[in-house]
Amino acid sequence: MIEPITLRWVNQRLFITDQTLLPGKFIEVEQTTIEQVWDSIKQLKVRGAPAIGVAAAFGLVIGVKAFVKLPCAEFIQKIRTQAAYLDSSRPTAVNLSWALQRMVKRAKAVVSNTSQAVFVALVEEAELIHRQDIELCLGIAKNGEPLIEDGMGILTHCNAGALATSGMGTALAPMYQAHHNGKRFKVYADETRPLLQGARLTAWELHRAGIDVTLNTDNMTAYLMQQGLIQMVIVGTDRVAKNGDVCNKIGTLGVAILAKHFNIPFYVACPSSTIDFTTPTGNDIVIEQREADEVGCFAGVRTAPKDINFANPAFDVTPCELVTGIITERGLIQQPIAANLKIQFDDLVE
Ligand code: MRU
Repeated sequence: MIEPITLRWVNQRLFITDQTLLPGKFIEVEQTTIEQVWDSIKQLKVRGAPAIGVAAAFGLVIGVKAFVKLPCAEFIQKIRTQAAYLDSSRPTAVNLSWALQRMVKRAKAVVSNTSQAVFVALVEEAELIHRQDIELCLGIAKNGEPLIEDGMGILTHCNAGALATSGMGTALAPMYQAHHNGKRFKVYADETRPLLQGARLTAWELHRAGIDVTLNTDNMTAYLMQQGLIQMVIVGTDRVAKNGDVCNKIGTLGVAILAKHFNIPFYVACPSSTIDFTTPTGNDIVIEQREADEVGCFAGVRTAPKDINFANPAFDVTPCELVTGIITERGLIQQPIAANLKIQFDDLVE
């Protein structure tokens, strides 16, 4: 229904859409070195929690390919160091370390003990992570679609759509499904300062799919809610902690507080790869701090004095009690979310 637009893996070659160029240019760039993949993740050329996990898995394949002649133990050590390197590109989305840990685990589990066999297993694992990501999106679409009713206004923040995954997205997946099923609704996309993922990416991909999308700046959300234009919020997430706290793009917490005030259901959509039972609460999540110029400049033009202090946390944490439910591929997890997460995902609890 929604064709993959984020990355392609063809004959062991990785192509990513450079999202920093959207919406002006829709251009794929081949990734030929692990350093290039690291940089593409860091610079948000590929971004969104599930997508960076998949990109990193393929990036690891690219990064170890030249070392396949090493003795097996050394090759596995190389895989570990290259995985750690890729993992250092961004700290907050758990999908990155989740995918890389899966890759290292798979490499270590190969019995035949030749570097070539380990390499083949790595390729298989990366391809599996990729395929599963597409399937997880479909599950979220199916489980979230019934929440959408004709005539609704749905607000989303940042981009948790096709561009953030290998498939049809997380927060936007139920919307694509509802649109496909003939439901009529409006989507309000928060602009998402400072990097404008809402304006550049969400508005672009929804409009391209024929969905009725309205762009608003982040400071208009309260007004839109007060005017009765928003009946539901659906956002994505970079990490769900064991207690159900949800980390997502900076500004999500404000939206959740507003939704509570206006009595609007606040849903989070994510695949199981984003649920992290090893992180007890939202306070334990490392929040990425980005460059000052992302805030001090707008579209390359300086908009603030240079020598002042800048705050630029890329994410915030919404406490579990503000979340109405989490839409996953295994179903809708409702309150009490921590307890229900544990029941529904007991196989992931360490
Ligand atoms: O900094 P970004 O653009 O990678 O942030 C992305 C988000 O915050 C998304 O909402 C989140 O990763 C979920 S994507 C399915």
